[in-house]
Amino acid sequence: MHIGILTGGGDAPGLNAVIRGITVRGIRGGHEITGFLRGWKGALENDWIKLDLDKVRDIHMQGGTMLFSSRTNPFRVENGMEKIRATYEERGLDCLIALGGEDTLGVAEKLGAEGLSVIGVPKTIDNDLSATDFTFGFDTAVNYVMTALEMLHTTARSHERVVVVEIMGRHAGWIALYGGIAGGAHVILLPEEEFDTDEVCRTLEERYAKGERYAIVAVAEGAMDPDLKRHIMHSAEKDAFGHVMLGTGIGIGEVLKNEIADRTDLETRHVVLGHVQRGGSPSAFDRVLGTRLGVKAVEMAEEGLFGKMAALRGNEVVAVDLGEAVGTLKTVPGDLIDTARLFFG
Ligand code: F6P
Repeated sequence: MHIGILTGGGDAPGLNAVIRGITVRGIRGGHEITGFLRGWKGALENDWIKLDLDKVRDIHMQGGTMLFSSRTNPFRVENGMEKIRATYEERGLDCLIALGGEDTLGVAEKLGAEGLSVIGVPKTIDNDLSATDFTFGFDTAVNYVMTALEMLHTTARSHERVVVVEIMGRHAGWIALYGGIAGGAHVILLPEEEFDTDEVCRTLEERYAKGERYAIVAVAEGAMDPDLKRHIMHSAEKDAFGHVMLGTGIGIGEVLKNEIADRTDLETRHVVLGHVQRGGSPSAFDRVLGTRLGVKAVEMAEEGLFGKMAALRGNEVVAVDLGEAVGTLKTVPGDLIDTARLFFG
């Protein structure tokens, strides 16, 4: 078979492990592997490289993606569908494997409906894709956030300060929740539930009154007190998939820090963890998960399981419908938020 692969959307640690998994399993299975560059942009522009065992040697240890990435949306490009079909036919592909989150896989699903043989692999540090227990990249990001919060404890305690830490997650707060629990945050705020800044201030003041004279507030970038929304939305741009690019304007971390400082006597600082959460080398979990997903994607291609995504269910990697994965975003369930809340203050 001739298998094409591409990586779209924000990068995530583990992408290179999937690329290596697909290439090694593909070549050992007698297939030809072509890597399109910069996500859907490469498929639109017929921009590709041939992948072989030498090119992917040991890359599972490296973060980022050797194929580069972009947030190109072919359905926003004139004749985008026709251009991708032309590339697919000109290259003589039998299958295209897309490594991405909701947006990239949403495009893959539409292309599948148009008759192309596509397979998805679930990537995103946000862990917000349905139909898989975890996406690769999430574990690495959580470990980084945990370490950052743990480090902030000592400086916050020394200066008797509140430190508000802004964590990635526009629509789902998985990283803030897992990182916040593991790194000992005293308040965790997620996009899944609107918060009330006065209540946050009360929790912090009560903590100080008990003699615990410092605090870490973990806030997901999409978490919101509706009264503070105006500060955020006016300054942010939108990407090709219509998402507000929260990293381009003033963020909730800074706004909340200012509000806490105004409404209380507590000395407050804020930290935006930003893109370091997506950087660096993948954790062992993400290296292994990426490898397994890549191998499974080639097996699925051999079995003709198109319009499907390789997914982690329990400890098994299985094929699920792409439609199931991109239909609804997987947000943090209420019982997990309740568990986190037990440790607030
Ligand atoms: O989807 C991954 C993610 O890192 C989000 O958590 C974040 O909101 C967004 O990408 C940032 O996108 P960009 O890299 O385009 O600024």
